[in-house]
Amino acid sequence: AIDVSRLYAETGCFTYDPGFTSTASCDSAITYIDGEVGILMHRGYMIEDLAEHSDFMDVCYLLLHGELPKADQKTEFERSITYHTMLHEQMNYFYRGFRRDSHPMAIMVGVVGAMSAFYHDSTDISDPRQRMIASHRLIAKMPTIAAMAYKFSIGQPFVYPRNDLNYAENFLNMIFSVPCEEYKISPVLARAMDRIFILHADHEQNASTSTVRISGSSNANPFACIAAGIASLWGPAHGGANEAVLQMLQEIGTKDRIPEFIERAKDRDDPFRLMGFGHRVYKNYDPRAKVMQKSCHEVLAELGVKDPLLDVAMELERIALEDEYFAEKKLFPNVDFYSGIILKAMGFPTSMFTVLFALARTVGWVAQWREMIEDPKQRISRPRQLYNGHTKRDYVALGDR
Ligand code: ACO
Repeated sequence: AIDVSRLYAETGCFTYDPGFTSTASCDSAITYIDGEVGILMHRGYMIEDLAEHSDFMDVCYLLLHGELPKADQKTEFERSITYHTMLHEQMNYFYRGFRRDSHPMAIMVGVVGAMSAFYHDSTDISDPRQRMIASHRLIAKMPTIAAMAYKFSIGQPFVYPRNDLNYAENFLNMIFSVPCEEYKISPVLARAMDRIFILHADHEQNASTSTVRISGSSNANPFACIAAGIASLWGPAHGGANEAVLQMLQEIGTKDRIPEFIERAKDRDDPFRLMGFGHRVYKNYDPRAKVMQKSCHEVLAELGVKDPLLDVAMELERIALEDEYFAEKKLFPNVDFYSGIILKAMGFPTSMFTVLFALARTVGWVAQWREMIEDPKQRISRPRQLYNGHTKRDYVALGDR
C-alpha cells in the first residue's frame, strides 16, 4: 500500500478512484478480508469458528473491545445490553406519524435518527463513557426498534422486550408473539437467528460502514451516523440485495427457467444482474454464504419446510458456477444469496430482510465509528473530485437565455 495522504500538499496531485476500488480510507484492526481466497476474520478469529462456537453477544464484545469476553465480562456486557433494550416510551408515538404501508427500512432511518433527540445524554462524543453508552444503547435498542417497525406495519400491538431471553430469542419474541396466544421460541430458530446476526456483524469498509465513518468524521452524533449507515445499507446493490434475491428467485420460479436468466445476466445490454452474486472484495466464495447455505438446510429441516425456491437457488448456483462468464468475472454467491430463503422460512416478510441486516450490522458500525473517533490520525473525510464542467463563462440575464 502507498500512503498518499500528503500527496496533494507536497506535489499538488491527487488520485482519481471512483468507487474507492484501490483506496484505503483508514487503518483498522477490526475485520480482515482476503477476497481472493475467501477469508473473513474478526479480530483474528475466522468467521466460520465464530459462527460455529460463539454467540452474537461474544461477537459484539469482540468487535467493540478486541478480545472475546471472559465469563464475568460477558455477564456484565449482557447486563448492560439488556438494561438498555427498552425504548423511551415517547418514541412509541413517533411510529404513529408514519404511514402503515411505509417500508420498515424507511421507519428505521427515521426512528434511529430520532434517537439523538431522546438520548442526548450520550451524544457528547468527546466523553469515552458517553461513547460507550451510546454504543450499548444502539446495539440494545435496535431489535426493539426493528420489531416495532414490523408490528406497526402489520397493525399489531408493540411487544416490549423481555430481558430473561437472550438477544436472538428476545428479538424473535418481539416479532412473532401476540398477546392472545403463547409463542414458543424454537431453540433451532433462535440459534439460526443468532448465527445470521454473527454473519452480518461487520464487513470492514463497505458502503454503509464508510458512510458511518464519513458522517462521524465531522463529529456528528453516533445516532445520526448510524441512521446514515442504515440509509446506505438499504440500496439493492448493498443490504437490499437479500430482498432482491428472493424476488429474483420467485420470478425465476422453476429450474427450467434458470438458463434464460443466466443469459440475461450475461447480456451487457440487459440491466438484469444475478442478485446475491458478485462482490467488490470477494473474488472467491463468500465464506458467510457457505455457513448460510448450511444453516438454511438446518432451518428448513427443523421447520419441515420444503421450499422449491431453495432448489431453484442451488441449481442457479450450480449452473452459474459452471458458466465461463461468471468464472471469468469471479462472480460467486455472496452472503445474501441464501439468507432470504432462511428468513422467509422463519416467517419474516421480505420487507424485513434488510432491517435484520441493519440490526446485526449495528455493532460493526458502532465498533468502526468508535475506532475512528479514538484514532489520533482521524480527520474530517473530504474526498477530492475531478471537475469536468464548464470553464468560466459570462453570466446571461434571464431575458437573454
Ligand atoms: N450478475 C451479472 N454480472 C455481474 C454481477 C451479477 N450479479 N455482478 C457483477 N457483474 C459483472 C458486471 O456487469 C461487470 O461486468 P463488465 O466487467 O463486463 O462491466 C463485472 O461483473 C464487474 O462488476 P462491477 O459492478 O464493476 O463490480 P462492483 O465491485 O462494482 O460491484 C456488486 C459489486 C455491486 C456487489 C455487484 O457484483 C452486484 O451488483 N451484485 C448483485 C447485487 C448483490 O448481490 N449485492 C450484494 C453485495 S454483498 C453485500 O452488500 C452484503
